[in-house]
Amino acid sequence: MDDAFIADAQQILSADNSLVPEFWQKKYKDEAGRNWDKFYNRNSTNFFKDRNWTDREFEELRPGHTFSEQNPVLLEIGCGVGNFVWPILKRNPDISVYACDFSPRAVDFVKANELYSEDRCRAFVCDITKDRLADTIPPHSVDIVSAIYVFSALPPEKQADAVSNILEILKPGGRILFRDYGIYDLAQLRFKSGHKLENNLYVRQDGTLSYYFSTERLRELFVQHGGLVELENEYVVKRLVNVKREIDSDRVFTQAKFQAPIDTAAIESAMTSTTI
Ligand SMILES: C[S@@+](CC[C@H](N)C(=O)[O-])C[C@H]1O[C@@H](n2cnc3c(N)ncnc32)[C@H](O)[C@@H]1O
Repeated sequence: MDDAFIADAQQILSADNSLVPEFWQKKYKDEAGRNWDKFYNRNSTNFFKDRNWTDREFEELRPGHTFSEQNPVLLEIGCGVGNFVWPILKRNPDISVYACDFSPRAVDFVKANELYSEDRCRAFVCDITKDRLADTIPPHSVDIVSAIYVFSALPPEKQADAVSNILEILKPGGRILFRDYGIYDLAQLRFKSGHKLENNLYVRQDGTLSYYFSTERLRELFVQHGGLVELENEYVVKRLVNVKREIDSDRVFTQAKFQAPIDTAAIESAMTSTTI
């Protein structure tokens, strides 16, 4: 992102000073699960496309990438209807997958998919901000956790709880693969007044939340709070050019990889009650 782009974006964002009232903020946060469940009731499996790009971006997902003697185990948090999971299961015969979401309807869609088979995939309902992953998955047994457009759905004050929860099931040396919306993304700049809860946090028309990440915020969550090692943390900018209307605009994403320390004791001690 160049300086001129950032300056323009900041000017647009600074014009929106009105915040959603406290009562409604609480309601959107309390009813997040219900609103996502309604989303899947309306859209069934038709909203998101299969994410066929993930093994191009993350080498850890390719066949032959080994973490240890055993075949890799992956957990996809906020799996929705499985658009991340299916291409990986098809393309990487070595991997087995846990997939969770707090929308029971989404998890039912995953289980109903013809590619779902309990020998390689296990889907379950879990709110990653409050239900312990370690109640379903053995502690420190997962090589890869994928967080693909899910942290943006969490209120910022609950994001650190989700990181701590993941750390309980991640293996020493295991990796978190992260992709989500970045600050100054076109969608952030397009929110009309009346949708902002706080800086970088908005509510969509359907009541779901959308947080826009800076690379600094990711570092705060995963390195400072989680004690993980940062392997990659960057903005991915995609320019959209509408020739007819002569409009240039940018989709901005954050893409990152973090690694758990090799020593389990270091992970445990990183899981302090840091509030960020
Ligand atoms: C934008 S969708 C992404 C789905 C999937 N990761 C993909 O790449 O297609 C975000 C998903 O996160 C889920 N989600 C939001 N907050 C959650 C939470 N606290 N615990 C578990 N899942 C959550 C939503 O139900 C939704 O399915």
